[in-house]
Amino acid sequence: MRKLVLSTSNKNKVNEIREILKDLPVEILSKEEIGLGRLEVVEDGDTLESNSLKKARALKELTPYMVMADDSGLFVDALNGEPGIYSSRYGGDDGNDKLNNETLLRNLKDKDRTAAFRSVIALIDENGNEYVMQGICRGSLLEEEKGSGGFGYDPLFVPEGYHESFAEMSYEVKNSISHRRRAIDGLREVLAGLLGEENENTSR
Ligand code: IMP
Repeated sequence: MRKLVLSTSNKNKVNEIREILKDLPVEILSKEEIGLGRLEVVEDGDTLESNSLKKARALKELTPYMVMADDSGLFVDALNGEPGIYSSRYGGDDGNDKLNNETLLRNLKDKDRTAAFRSVIALIDENGNEYVMQGICRGSLLEEEKGSGGFGYDPLFVPEGYHESFAEMSYEVKNSISHRRRAIDGLREVLAGLLGEENENTSR
């Protein structure tokens, strides 16, 4: 069976991707599982696309298998796309969700509150062919945090068509409409094509 190595070390992401791709004939492995857990890539690109491609290319140099990497962020219309690629360190302290949310609320005062989460996945196949998939979830930002689930900007973000924040929803509902889910659905389609080609070739 062909193998796909994920550049993320985040167990939730690995499990989510495994679940969504479970019926495809591909073995999903984290980089730890092929002994590359220590690979760290500096995310210094100026777009989600360049950061995810940079991470995927760094991993591909070290393995013959297919690889994928992802990068996500929150893009606020009235802030010209901020926090964008700086989403995890918007408040100045990497991974500090509370500070990031406070900073966002301060910068949004009296502004239009529409925004979108974007997620980009870069996939590189065994031959070095590159594919980039994007998922978008549009919504708007609350004036104060609501809910205790999820992570990051979830307590402030209400997706279009809903009245609850991502942090108030169940894990299942959020993950059925999220930007990440939509990008993984795109990945699924591309992979199904790649794996189907192999089946066609081997059945001839
Ligand atoms: P990552 O590239 O998926 O690690 O996301 C980078 C940052 O974007 C996170 O640290 C969060 O601040 C923000 N972010 C991405 N996806 C989500 C989400 O689903 N909910 C809330 N915040 C998110």
